[in-house]
Amino acid sequence: MKAGSLIAGVALLAGHAAAKQPNILFILTDDMDSHMEAMEHMPLLQKHLINEGTVFSRHYCTVALCCPSRVNIFTGRAAHNTNVTDVWAPYGGYPKVVREGINDDYLPHWLQAAGYNTYYAGKMWNQHSVENYNAPHVGGFNESDFLLDPFTYEYWNATMTRNGAPPVRYEGQYSPDLTADKAYDFLREALRHKDRPWFVAHAPIAPHGNVHFPYDESDETKQSKPGYAERHAHLFKDYKIPRGESFNPAEQGGVSWIANLPRLNDTVIAYNDEFQRSRLRALQSVDESTAALLQLLKDAGELDNTYIFYTTDNGYHISQHRMHPGKECGFETDVHIPMIVRGPGVPRGHVSEAVTSHTDIASTIMELAGRPLENTDGVPMPLSLEAEANARMEHVTIEYWGLAIPEGELGWYGDANMTDDYGSSAHAAINNTYKGLRVIGDTYSLYYAVWCTNETELYNLMEDPFEVRNLLDANGGHAAQANAFRIAGRSLDQVVSRLNALLVVLKTCARETCREPWRALHPQGDVATLEDSLAPHFDAFYAGQPNIYFTKCEIGYIAESEGPMYVNRFGGGIHQGYVPTNAKSAPENGDEVAGYDRKALKYLGPQHRISIWT
Ligand SMILES: *[C@@H]1O[C@H](CO)[C@@H](O)[C@H](O)[C@H]1NC(C)=O
Ligand SMILES: *[C@@H]1O[C@H](CO)[C@@H](O)[C@H](O)[C@H]1NC(C)=O
Ligand SMILES: *[C@@H]1O[C@H](CO)[C@@H](O)[C@H](O)[C@H]1NC(C)=O
Ligand SMILES: *[C@@H]1O[C@H](CO)[C@@H](O)[C@H](O)[C@H]1NC(C)=O
Ligand SMILES: *[C@@H]1O[C@H](CO)[C@@H](O)[C@H](O)[C@H]1NC(C)=O
Ligand SMILES: *[C@@H]1O[C@H](CO)[C@@H](O)[C@H](O)[C@H]1NC(C)=O
Ligand SMILES: *[C@@H]1O[C@H](CO)[C@@H](O)[C@H](O)[C@H]1NC(C)=O
Repeated sequence: MKAGSLIAGVALLAGHAAAKQPNILFILTDDMDSHMEAMEHMPLLQKHLINEGTVFSRHYCTVALCCPSRVNIFTGRAAHNTNVTDVWAPYGGYPKVVREGINDDYLPHWLQAAGYNTYYAGKMWNQHSVENYNAPHVGGFNESDFLLDPFTYEYWNATMTRNGAPPVRYEGQYSPDLTADKAYDFLREALRHKDRPWFVAHAPIAPHGNVHFPYDESDETKQSKPGYAERHAHLFKDYKIPRGESFNPAEQGGVSWIANLPRLNDTVIAYNDEFQRSRLRALQSVDESTAALLQLLKDAGELDNTYIFYTTDNGYHISQHRMHPGKECGFETDVHIPMIVRGPGVPRGHVSEAVTSHTDIASTIMELAGRPLENTDGVPMPLSLEAEANARMEHVTIEYWGLAIPEGELGWYGDANMTDDYGSSAHAAINNTYKGLRVIGDTYSLYYAVWCTNETELYNLMEDPFEVRNLLDANGGHAAQANAFRIAGRSLDQVVSRLNALLVVLKTCARETCREPWRALHPQGDVATLEDSLAPHFDAFYAGQPNIYFTKCEIGYIAESEGPMYVNRFGGGIHQGYVPTNAKSAPENGDEVAGYDRKALKYLGPQHRISIWT
C-alpha cells in the first residue's frame, strides 16, 4: 500500500478538476446487493453512472449492518474505533452516536468547515425517532429531512423531520419517491448558492424490507417484502435469484449457527424469489430519481464540477447458505457491495479492481474538497488510472457483534436451537460475533474469520467464489483441498499463521496501522503483502504470535472478551493494539432511550422509556 502515491494521484485529479472545489452528490441505498444482480436491473444507473464513471468492483462494507456501517462511512473510522456496533441501544443507534461525540464530529461538519453547504434527505441513523429527533438535532447539515423511527421502514407511512421541526406524517406516499422529491428540492437549493460548493445526499430506504414496528404493546413487529410503486409492479415477473453453488446447498458449510441451518423448503424459496423481485422493483424508484438528480445537475451546467457517489450501507443474502433474507454475515453477499463514482477525471466506463472499503469514503470526499483527513482509518480511493496503478491495498477488515436477524415473513432461525435471552423472541441467531479479513492479491483471494465460539473459517475464493468449502473445517471432508492449498508455494498452516497475526493487528488497528498493518509486525517496512510475509525465514516469528480467540460471545465491543490485543514485532518488542477507552461510552446518569425493547427487538412507544442502565 502506497498512501503517498494515492494522495498524489488525487491531488493530480483535483488539479485537473480546476481550482473550484467540486460538488458531491452522494446516493446511499439500504441493503442493496451485488450478488443477486441489483445493478444489472437498473438501466438508468447503467447509462448515467456505470457507463460514465468507474465501478469499484472490489468495494466492501466493514460491518454488514446499517447503523455501524453508516457511522463507518461518515467518520472514516473502523467500527471498533467508533464503538457504534449495533442498530439499537446500548451498543448502537442514534443515542449511542450522540454519546460517542460523532454527531459533533463527522463528515458533514468537516465539509461545512471546508466551505460546503450540506443537505441530506432520507434515512440517516437507526433509533433516530419521533421521540429523540430533537434531543439533540442531527448536526452538520444546512438542511435536512430525515426519516424517523418507528416508521423508517414503512414504505407507505413515512414520518420525517425537516430541519429539526416536529415530525410530519406522509401516509400513503411511497417513501423512496418522497425522499427523492426532498433530494430534488435540496439540490435546487444547493445550486442556487453559486458561491459555495455543496454536498447533497439522498438516502432512500430501498431496497430494505418493509418493517412495521409496534406502536403499542398489543402490536408486534411485522417484517415483509419491500413495497414498490404501482408503476413497477409489472416488472421482473420471471426473475429468479441466481442459483449459484451457495444457493440453499444440499451440503451446508460454514460455522456456528450457520452450520446447523436446515435446508429451506420450496415454499420459502418461492417466497424468497418474490422478495428479491420486490427489492428490484423498489430499486426502480432509485434508478429514476438518480437519473433525475443528474438531469438537474446537467440543466444547471454543474455536471462537470460534481462527483457522484453511488453505494449502499451493506449487502444482502437471500437463500444463500440456507439463510432467510438478511445481512450481518461476512460472506461476499453481505459485505461486497456496489460502489460507483462518476466525476471530473474519473475514468469512464471503467471497472477498477482496487480493493476499497467504506472506511475510505470520508477520506476520499475530503481529499476532493481540498481538506485531506489525517485521523481516519482509511485512505482516499484511487479515482484516476494513475492512482489506481499505485493502489496496492490488499486487505479489508470485516467485523460484527451480536445477532443475525432473519427478515421477511418466513424468517425463523429458532429451529436450529439458537435461542437465548436475546434470540428467542426475535427468531434471531445468536453468537454471530466474529472478526473477518478479506485479503486480495494478484494470485490469492481469501476470506478468513474467527468467531466468538473460537471456530475459524478460510475460503479460497479463487477456487471457491461462493464460499462453500471451509478449508479449516476438520470434519467437513475438505482435506483434499486443504492439502493442495498453496500460496507462494506455502502450506495452509503457514498462510493461516500470517492471517492470524494480521487479524490480531487489524481488530485493534487505528489510523496508520489500519492503512499499513504489516508495519505493526515488520517495522523495517520490508513486508507489505501477505505474499511477502510468507517467506520461510518468518515461519518461527509467526509461530510465536499470540493466537486469536474470544473468551465469550458478547453482543457489543467488550474488549475483555476479545482475546489478545498485541502482536510481537519482528526484531523484538511488541506492538500494542489500540482500544478506545470506554469513558465516552459510559451512559450518563438517567440517560434514557425511548421505547425499545432490546430483547424483543420491539419499538414500544414513548410510554416505555428504557433506562440504558438496564
Ligand atoms: C451552511 O452552514 C454553514 C455552517 O454553519 C454556514 O457557514 C453557511 O453559511 C450555511 N449556508 C447557507 C446557505 O446558509
Ligand atoms: C400510519 O401510522 C399511524 C400511527 O402513527 C397509524 O395510525 C396508521 O394506521 C398508519 N397508516 C398506515 C397506512 O399504515
Ligand atoms: C417450509 O418452511 C417454513 C419455514 O420454516 C414453514 O413455516 C413451512 O411450514 C414449511 N412448509 C412446508 C410445506 O413444509
Ligand atoms: C434442539 O434441542 C432439543 C433439546 O435439546 C433436541 O431434542 C433437538 O434435536 C434440537 N434440534 C435441533 C434442530 O438441533
Ligand atoms: C476460546 O479459547 C480461549 C483460549 O483458549 C478460551 O479461554 C475460551 O474459553 C474459548 N472459548 C470457547 C467458547 O470455547
Ligand atoms: C454461544 O456461545 C457460547 C460461548 O460464548 C456457548 O457457550 C453457547 O453454547 C453458544 N450457543 C449456541 C446456541 O451456539
Ligand atoms: C463500547 O460501548 C459499550 C456500550 O456503551 C461499552 O460497554 C464498552 O465498554 C465499549 N467498548 C470499548 C472498547 O470502549
